[in-house]
Amino acid sequence: MKDFAFTGGRPDPNTFPTEALIEASTKALRNLGGQLVNYPGESGYRGLRELASMRFEGREGVPLPIDNTSITSGSMQALDLTLGTFIQPGDTVLTEEYTYSGTLGIMRHLQANIVGIPMDYIDGMNMDALEDKLKELKRQNVTPAMIYTTSNHQNPTGAILSLKRRHRMLELAEEYDTLIVEDDCYGDIDFVPNPTPASLFKLDESNRVIFIATFSKILGAGVRQGYFVAKQPYYDMIHQNRWDGGTSALASAIVAEFFKENLEAHLETTNNAVGAKCKAVIDTLEEHVSDICTWTKPRGGLFLWIDLPESTDMKKLNALASAKGVGYSNGSAFHYAGEPVKAIRLAYAYCNIEDIPEGITYLAEAIRDAQVATVDVAAAD
Ligand SMILES: Cc1ncc(COP(=O)(O)O)c(C=O)c1O
Repeated sequence: MKDFAFTGGRPDPNTFPTEALIEASTKALRNLGGQLVNYPGESGYRGLRELASMRFEGREGVPLPIDNTSITSGSMQALDLTLGTFIQPGDTVLTEEYTYSGTLGIMRHLQANIVGIPMDYIDGMNMDALEDKLKELKRQNVTPAMIYTTSNHQNPTGAILSLKRRHRMLELAEEYDTLIVEDDCYGDIDFVPNPTPASLFKLDESNRVIFIATFSKILGAGVRQGYFVAKQPYYDMIHQNRWDGGTSALASAIVAEFFKENLEAHLETTNNAVGAKCKAVIDTLEEHVSDICTWTKPRGGLFLWIDLPESTDMKKLNALASAKGVGYSNGSAFHYAGEPVKAIRLAYAYCNIEDIPEGITYLAEAIRDAQVATVDVAAAD
């Protein structure tokens, strides 16, 4: 049976630059040689920190402060370290109502009180709702430990926090004395020209934002190269929480060597490939389930969110889709409180483009077959 994997936020395996990375590895090893006997240190390989800074400058017009940039084993470690530093058991954290399940896992592990703020699928977190919640917390004498947001091409909905909302979030963070953790995992995966506004980190004037990013989504999760950027005192505070010997300098050097020459060309290739897959998913959904479902129209990123009819039996849908080899993620995994929701998330970059119409057609059939008759209580009376 074919495998139609719409699970997990991975890039397109067909655009993984194997040959170019072999060349980059040779160069990196020649350059580093015996230096690799040393531990990389808590901030990691400088060449990749410089590259991260250039990457940011290419999009935002200003470099990242290299001395405040720290390489981690994927952005997951950056999240682990950052959240672990600022969240004590019982602390309140604010995030989008739907957000990355991995971050929710860390927050739960840290015994945070997670508060989900209503959002929309286009412009992200609703700032009136955020303000109301902050006011309510203040009345209870609660200062939240942080606001966590995936500002660009959000996981799972694809929303992009609008510029106006970014400014408002910064004002609110200042007024209510809290930090913002900006997770920019998907910022470079754009299908339309410049869809994302300036980052919160760039707009911040009062040292409230910790910026987190990764190479997982533009290269591969297997390389495990991510980073956080934090000004002082936060940079040192986060490092006080770090006990490993640093992130592989060899892997960092290979990634830096590759991207030094290829960042723009690689992004063009991968974004075109992923954008085409996203379109193939949407076209097939349009053809088969536009009468009963609605879905987001991503401007970039790796995810599409489908709202299913209320009458969907989620267990049945899962069984029917799996029987055809179709994998997706259940919406409830992304709900801040894990509540059941009639929605699913599709990650479209991994599946072969030729297989997408077939896989999504099976999914559409499964959605139709998973509808159960609902009794209209009012009419029955
Ligand atoms: C929003 C977000 N942040 C962080 C991560 C972690 O990615 P990595 O550790 O591979 O950089 C993911 C992975 O899916 C994600 O979606």
